[in-house]
Amino acid sequence: MAGKTMPELHLGLEGIYFAESSICKVDGTKGRLYYRGYSIGELAGYSDFEEVSYLLLHGELPTRSQLIAFRRRMRAERTLPNKIIGIIEEESVRSHPMHVLLTAVAALAAYDKEADVASPRANMEKSIRLISKAGSIVAAIGRLRSGKQYVRPDARLGHAENMLYMMNGTRPSSNAARLLDLMMVLHAEHSSNASTFSTIVTGATLSDLYSAVASGIATLKGPLHGGADERALQMLRDIKRPENTERYIDEALQNKRRVMGFGHRVYKTYDPRARIIRKILLDLSLESGEVKNLAQIALRAEKLMIERLGRSKGIWPNVDFFTGPVYVHIGIIPALFTPMFAASRMPGWCAHMLEYWEHSRLIRPLEYYTGQAGRRYVPLGRR
Ligand SMILES: CC(C)(COP(=O)(O)OP(=O)(O)OC[C@H]1O[C@@H](n2cnc3c(N)ncnc32)[C@H](O)[C@@H]1OP(=O)(O)O)[C@@H](O)C(=O)NCCC(=O)NCCS
Repeated sequence: MAGKTMPELHLGLEGIYFAESSICKVDGTKGRLYYRGYSIGELAGYSDFEEVSYLLLHGELPTRSQLIAFRRRMRAERTLPNKIIGIIEEESVRSHPMHVLLTAVAALAAYDKEADVASPRANMEKSIRLISKAGSIVAAIGRLRSGKQYVRPDARLGHAENMLYMMNGTRPSSNAARLLDLMMVLHAEHSSNASTFSTIVTGATLSDLYSAVASGIATLKGPLHGGADERALQMLRDIKRPENTERYIDEALQNKRRVMGFGHRVYKTYDPRARIIRKILLDLSLESGEVKNLAQIALRAEKLMIERLGRSKGIWPNVDFFTGPVYVHIGIIPALFTPMFAASRMPGWCAHMLEYWEHSRLIRPLEYYTGQAGRRYVPLGRR
């Protein structure tokens, strides 16, 4: 490519703005996060997942009557078509729950007469359906993969409470339901991260909402993104005892291995969600047992990582680091951590899609070609 000037490459699209949005503000320097202008700390303290879903989709907190109507709509959408339950049952025995979730969410389109209707009204309806049914799908995966009978949703229960009920077949304690709900609020939205971006890339081709969020789920699965939560817990389990932590972390860093649950493309300080989840974990007031051990290992690892890489490289705990022990406390198995994340992120993905479609433009970046030019085809016999 002699004579051509190399354009500036933005590897990983780092630092590139591709759209305007009024949904989420991530302040990576100060470690702050806002959904629709409300700080994550206030939402975690006072709101719940159904209300936050409304906020993300509509841009405003609902009035009392709007919230009642929204909860009713969400709860009416929890049921799953029998064929979807069949897919979950069939696939759960041999696939990771993220594969099953991806298949089941994509398959939902077949049961929605408006799957390809692109009006704002139809897309809002589909968003409510997707947020609601994603919770039921994740719960059903948890239930059916262990060979147990499907449990029908209970419309009297809150979103997270119903998920635990569908998973375990018994009503959860109010503490467990509140904890899971809080975790879902913390995971509901995070601006144009990889999965939201891929959702938007798909939607920007004017594909449908089911296909768009299926792209989001597929992207979330990766260990550099949502898949880090399952691996972070595995790391804590591999460390086994608090006194092994230093050796494990130092070995990982010497061998240039990523320590899962640390580092972030935007936060170069403590992730505010991780701070809240850390506090939740410490507030569990555990006397003994696995979660207490995991928490002690996590705190040691956190201290070491901050000493080694915090100030020097801006590598701090992210949302995925303290999540695992909290989920273990609630009784959620590691293979369901990332599906839980996906079910929690559904309102964020849908809100972004609805917003982007208001001024949609096909997303098509460039890559700088560095391959050969003008080559002549050589027939197979002469190669
Ligand atoms: C999230 C992540 C992909 C962001 O990466 P990024 O913005 O592309 O940053 P880079 O990969 O360029 O990393 C910058 C430097 O920090 C180091 N680093 C980043 N995350 C690290 C981690 N978790 N453990 C050890 N080192 C890490 C890199 O090795 C690199 O070091 P170098 O400058 O000596 O090469 C990265 O921090 C990571 O892999 N974290 C672990 C996975 C994870 O927890 N993901 C969930 C994110 S919410």
